[in-house]
Amino acid sequence: MTPHFFCDILPTVLEKCTNKGLKKVKKQKIIGVIGLGTMGGACAKNIACFSSYKILAYDKKNKNKQLPKISKTKNVKELITKSQLLFLAIKPQDLDSFLRKNRDIVLTAKPLLVSILAGVSIKSIEAALPGVKVIRVMPNLAVQIRESISFVAAGKFVKQKELKEVKNIFSLMGEVLESKEENMDKTTALSGSGPGFIYYFMESFYSTAIQMGFKKQEARRIVAQTFQGASRLALESGQDFSKLVKSVASRGGTTEAGVSFFNKKQLSENISKGLFAAYEKAKKISASFKEEKK
Ligand SMILES: NC(=O)c1ccc[n+]([C@@H]2O[C@H](COP(=O)([O-])OP(=O)(O)OC[C@H]3O[C@@H](n4cnc5c(N)ncnc54)[C@H](OP(=O)(O)O)[C@@H]3O)[C@@H](O)[C@H]2O)c1
Repeated sequence: MTPHFFCDILPTVLEKCTNKGLKKVKKQKIIGVIGLGTMGGACAKNIACFSSYKILAYDKKNKNKQLPKISKTKNVKELITKSQLLFLAIKPQDLDSFLRKNRDIVLTAKPLLVSILAGVSIKSIEAALPGVKVIRVMPNLAVQIRESISFVAAGKFVKQKELKEVKNIFSLMGEVLESKEENMDKTTALSGSGPGFIYYFMESFYSTAIQMGFKKQEARRIVAQTFQGASRLALESGQDFSKLVKSVASRGGTTEAGVSFFNKKQLSENISKGLFAAYEKAKKISASFKEEKK
């Protein structure tokens, strides 16, 4: 069973996590994580648990919350200075204030900067931090259970071996694909926001199951297992989605009745419009950061 890395059960999981089988490294490298929220927290925990990197972390909130295998610091300067890799996992709107306060320290220490911020281009970070090596990553919420799909793009100063290192780090948390930076707004909409859209559909299934009379626990199980089974079958069979639909929707059957209703309501076209709306928003956020940097 894949372990779930939610904060409350993580200490138990980490006790079992002995880093067995990991390559021994001569000198432990340090990854500094700025922002221990949903994404930064999950990345930090997984890297701490499944690699030999040491994690130093700083967050405005939860300053006193202890996390196993993660050293927290209140001193950002110390964190940046000690880190070979610096993970930025704050909200895009907090970036300017972070850079205003810490620009000089980053420029002096020059860690390899890994940004997971949606809508913030490599160029805009390179413009704010001249000469700094920047790698942009778009992971998703499933980093929590190491089932993310993460897209990675490298800035102009990054060496191949540094890109490989960051890809290896994110492969601890799921699948990793290299991407052109120009595709990042698309992946932000599809796979970054994707889990949110899937939960939206799951919520529809769930409330329908409740209307049909299932108890909450049962309804939740039916929906989650149906999505998981369908998704795994699609991955493992490699079949086209349209073929998979046909393999369930036999003529005159129940699935066909549902699919035909969805088609009449143009559900597929509307889902596509929703995804394009997310893409447009990602482009708008990216453009606003470019404007600010002018
Ligand atoms: N959530 C997703 O599914 C997802 C997927 C892909 C990429 N991303 C990207 O990942 C980034 C983080 O998202 P998230 O959902 O993890 O956000 P989050 O839960 O709000 O975490 C961000 C954390 O950073 C803290 N913070 C803000 N400014 C800081 C500073 N100067 N120094 C240290 N800590 C600071 C915040 O504290 P306060 O709350 O007190 O400000 C918060 O605890 C975003 O840029 C987002 O675009 C998110």
